[in-house]
Amino acid sequence: MKPFVIALDGPAAAGKGTLAKRLAAHFGFAHLDTGALYRAVGLAVLKAGGDPTDAAAATKAAQNLAPATLRDPALRSAAAGDASSKVAAIPGVRQALFDFQRRFAATAPGPDGRPCSGVVLDGRDIGTVICPDAPVKIFVTATPEARAQRRLKELQERGETAIYARVLEDIRARDARDAARADAPMKAADDAVHLDTSDLDIDQVFERAKEIVERTIVDQRRS
Ligand code: CDP
Repeated sequence: MKPFVIALDGPAAAGKGTLAKRLAAHFGFAHLDTGALYRAVGLAVLKAGGDPTDAAAATKAAQNLAPATLRDPALRSAAAGDASSKVAAIPGVRQALFDFQRRFAATAPGPDGRPCSGVVLDGRDIGTVICPDAPVKIFVTATPEARAQRRLKELQERGETAIYARVLEDIRARDARDAARADAPMKAADDAVHLDTSDLDIDQVFERAKEIVERTIVDQRRS
């Protein structure tokens, strides 16, 4: 049996990560934060003293990504976020990360190594490129201002000095870069459900997404 796939896409700080974790825990599914892969590549380039827009350096970093980088607390820093969307525009980087994501979606490895019955992937191109056949696709959005408030809080909780105006500017720049790139730009799949989280708290977002998943599971069993 192929794993049941939930594809969550959307712009920076829209709440995909938190939602993905909640859904995965609730349904007992495996979870892959695909943004962490791009953040890890960006961070690896920065740590080597390189430039994240350098295609050769970034592609090499993606091909040689060390699992330890994926656990680096600096992954969630503002600098890694900025570098991630620069390396994500490079086709060689996307290509190097493609197979890993596809394999994860096809095998849904659980924490104990045994496969789960389903998988949640969150990112920018899951519903369009990585898992175009996913039975559940949700495009999670929120206004740039709401997202900037959430990201500001996250960065401050990490102990970073951050100011709202700068965070909002960074979010806008990252949205523009992610949506404008030629290779796998951020966009909602035609068959994605749009979920605007600007005025919802995490419990409300989770309830709505859970209903969408449950409805799809029931429909699949009927057909
Ligand atoms: O956590 P946040 O919403 O800030 O972003 P993220 O999900 O960690 O993703 C970081 C960056 O990786 C994004 O700005 C994209 O440029 C890139 N990304 C991508 O291109 N494709 C994906 N499937 C996931 C992330």
